[in-house]
Amino acid sequence: MTPFQAGGWLSLGQAPLLYWVLAGIAMASIVGFMVWALYFPTMARPSNRGYHVLGGVVVLVFLASLLAYIAVPASGFGKTPTQRAWDWKAGEVLSDPGNSGLQGEPYRGYQIYISQGCIYCHSMYVRLQDLKTGYTHFPMPLWSTQRNAPDLTIEGKRVPLMQWHIDHLKDPRKFQPLSIMPTYRYLSERQLADLAAFLVSLGNDPQALRAGQVGPKEPPGLSPEAQAGLALAQRMGCPACHTTNGMPSVGPTWAGLFGKDKTFSDGSKTTVEGNYIQESILDPGARVVQGFQPIMPSFAGRLSSEDIAAIIEYIKSLKETP
Ligand code: HEC
Ligand code: HEC
Repeated sequence: MTPFQAGGWLSLGQAPLLYWVLAGIAMASIVGFMVWALYFPTMARPSNRGYHVLGGVVVLVFLASLLAYIAVPASGFGKTPTQRAWDWKAGEVLSDPGNSGLQGEPYRGYQIYISQGCIYCHSMYVRLQDLKTGYTHFPMPLWSTQRNAPDLTIEGKRVPLMQWHIDHLKDPRKFQPLSIMPTYRYLSERQLADLAAFLVSLGNDPQALRAGQVGPKEPPGLSPEAQAGLALAQRMGCPACHTTNGMPSVGPTWAGLFGKDKTFSDGSKTTVEGNYIQESILDPGARVVQGFQPIMPSFAGRLSSEDIAAIIEYIKSLKETP
């Protein structure tokens, strides 16, 4: 095997011995040359030595940063995109020979993410609390310049839905009427899918991604109507704000929602049943659940009464999780 064979190493950690030997020889010759250039002519004029040492340090720092800027990006060489069709789905098995957690579509999405300037608004800043939520290996954290938008470190855990991300990228205001996020409709379908695959990969264990264990888990034993409701809820992007695992998100969780007693911001109360869910979908601002912001968009005109009935059936099937 030749050391720099195409499709070879995927990170510096996998670089062949020859790389380190060559890099070592290169560095040693640079340092050797500098010591020679700095010290040998100055033997006769020791008074200048301080300036030369200072100059040498500056040059060394410059070379070291040059190495960092070339060697680190070079570690991305060899990450050849997969040959598969573009429609990678959450849960589809990913090839991941480099154990980097990012390959193929997600890796291309990562590059699009950088090139489109998503980092100007979105941070991926791993804090202690992110580790607790299951943050896993990510090759290069993107800290972003400012936090103008939600942190995306574990976005894939929050919304493991390809189609939702594609729809959101095409028109963020469909989901958040006042969103300042630009529309990315000008990206090709393939680029959008790559970007979505990248977003789905965030915060998800590469092992689980590869094993196809990422993505919404269907509760067993759903009636056909509840199944249709689940599909609709996913298509409309409800999981972006509602979980089914008991954890509140942007909106209240749906686990055990049916039959629960709810208090609203004006102090009134109700027990959740079909009509209330329908009202929440068509006119979310009418009664706002205590402790939440009135930001849910209305789905009036986008969901028929059969659609809403199916979603109600689905929510009914979601039991409180222990
Ligand atoms: C001008 C700032 C800005 C830029 C640039 C931007 N976003 Fe956003 N993004 C936002 C804001 C604000 C929100 C929250 C409101 C919303 O959901 O639209 C958001 C929400 C999101 C969400 C949903 C987050 C959640 O958990 O609710 C995702 C995913 C996302 N952006 C991805 C991207 C990607 C990918 C790019 C680059 C292609 C990008 N954003 C560029 C401002 C931005
Ligand atoms: C942008 C975030 C967002 C999206 C998308 C969203 N919701 Fe909501 N939803 C909320 C918030 C916030 C609340 C709580 C405030 C309120 O009552 O308006 C809520 C409340 C609800 C409630 C009442 C819950 C309770 O505990 O009483 C139901 C039912 C509901 N949403 C259904 C849906 C359905 C169905 C969809 C998809 C078709 C959806 N939501 C999409 C944010 C969202």
